[in-house]
Amino acid sequence: NNFDNVVSSSGSMIVVSNRLPFVLQRNAEGKLVRKASAGGLVTAVAPVVINGSGLWVGWPGLHLANPNEPIPESDPDDITPTAGLRSEKVVAVQIDPVVFDSYYNGCCNATFWPLFHSMPDRATFKREHWHNYTTANKEFANCTMKALTSLPRRTGNDVPLIWIHDYHLMLAANWVRQGAEEEGIMCKLGFFLHIPFPPWDIFRLFPWGDEILQGMLACDMVGFHITDYCLNFVDCCQRNLGCRVDRKNLLVEHGGRSVRVRPLPIGIPFERFVELSEKAPKVLSTNQKIVLGVDRLDYTKGLVHRLLAFEKLLENHPQHKENVSLLQISVPSRTDVKEYQELKEEMDQLVGRINGKFTTPNWSPIRYIYGCVSQDELAAFYRDSAVGLVTPLRDGMNLVAKEFVACQINTPPGVLIVSPFAGAGETMHEALICNPYEINDASEVIHRALTMPEDERILRMNYLRRREKLNDVNYWTKSFLSAMGSLLTQEDHDDIG
Ligand code: G6P
Repeated sequence: NNFDNVVSSSGSMIVVSNRLPFVLQRNAEGKLVRKASAGGLVTAVAPVVINGSGLWVGWPGLHLANPNEPIPESDPDDITPTAGLRSEKVVAVQIDPVVFDSYYNGCCNATFWPLFHSMPDRATFKREHWHNYTTANKEFANCTMKALTSLPRRTGNDVPLIWIHDYHLMLAANWVRQGAEEEGIMCKLGFFLHIPFPPWDIFRLFPWGDEILQGMLACDMVGFHITDYCLNFVDCCQRNLGCRVDRKNLLVEHGGRSVRVRPLPIGIPFERFVELSEKAPKVLSTNQKIVLGVDRLDYTKGLVHRLLAFEKLLENHPQHKENVSLLQISVPSRTDVKEYQELKEEMDQLVGRINGKFTTPNWSPIRYIYGCVSQDELAAFYRDSAVGLVTPLRDGMNLVAKEFVACQINTPPGVLIVSPFAGAGETMHEALICNPYEINDASEVIHRALTMPEDERILRMNYLRRREKLNDVNYWTKSFLSAMGSLLTQEDHDDIG
């Protein structure tokens, strides 16, 4: 493909995200240390920042009593993609703890998260949270401006690119554009939303929605995972703000500018997962077939429905008893938010009830891990499971589905089941599609996966793996740069000198 010669974005890139690509912690001596994050986004974007003259603006995961305390360098034995991110390339945003709590736990995770996942009944709407969201976004914008003014001035098309991420920062571009104009600094602004963008009839429940749209439209390009989310956004711009829109070419006119809207489905670092699964030792010592679920413990993931579908499977197809287990890994998440605490209780009870009902001396139907697992262990689980069960009620993309197929290197391979309500369900056509809301139906899809003939499994998995290998996370980064008009090939680079 013609991305092979890509060397960098034009000029430098400033990445702005709620979290930095690592978290800061205090060790036993009270010294600040970095703990690396391993997400796909970090893997793809970090090299662009590290190798170019870029910067990363974000929250370091801890409130510093002294905001001037220096950010530590990475550990010498750190081999993660952010190891080379020197502290001078990092801007750690500091926000008053009370404001931060209301912005992050309140507006981001108790309002936007459920609303954008089309679960309005779970959303709370509080003016105070919205106020603190605005304050926090202004602070991120201030830090971004500081980063921007610290960069060497560029001319022509070679201007810095500011890439803002996700629902935490939907307003920030407003103040960055304004600030850059006041300072006479040229820059390009891009935004990517990692979660769904809801239909207008849901979006309009948010009382201050117009400001959100204006904040996103302060960018030159707004990216979403799939076309449906793009169309929802365009629709909201037209109906809420009265913008002129072009649905065919996905353009929105705003403030005398034409804003590009683009579907840019994110991928994973495919080869990294292949390597992990090749190296990982066997961790599952069992003759039983494993049906695997891996999720943050989040109500959007359909975990309760999933357990009920598995229970139904054992009732309707008793031949799976003692032969099949569901391994569910639930990673603790946003534990300060009430909805998440309640889900934890509900899951604990449900696992107990179902296991109590079916367990025999040699077998339990559900193995439930509430905690984190290492990347190696995860790769081994993905590799050695017969079925990958990815059944969210709503999900922007879902990378677990993609990681599962990357690690399916055994012959014959297993089967992926995916919900049509995840972005991944849009493109992973050879997976079995399962509507998680209809428990009986969902249990039949699991049965079908467990009894699928080998040749069909091979055929489906080959197609799935080929696509994810091609459309990996590097391809996504390059597609974003290309959509921003910021993609340079080796020849362009030579021309600029
Ligand atoms: C989703 C969001 C990310 C977020 C992640 C973990 O994938 O799109 O922006 O970082 O969840 O959630 P947390 O609240 O722990 O950052």
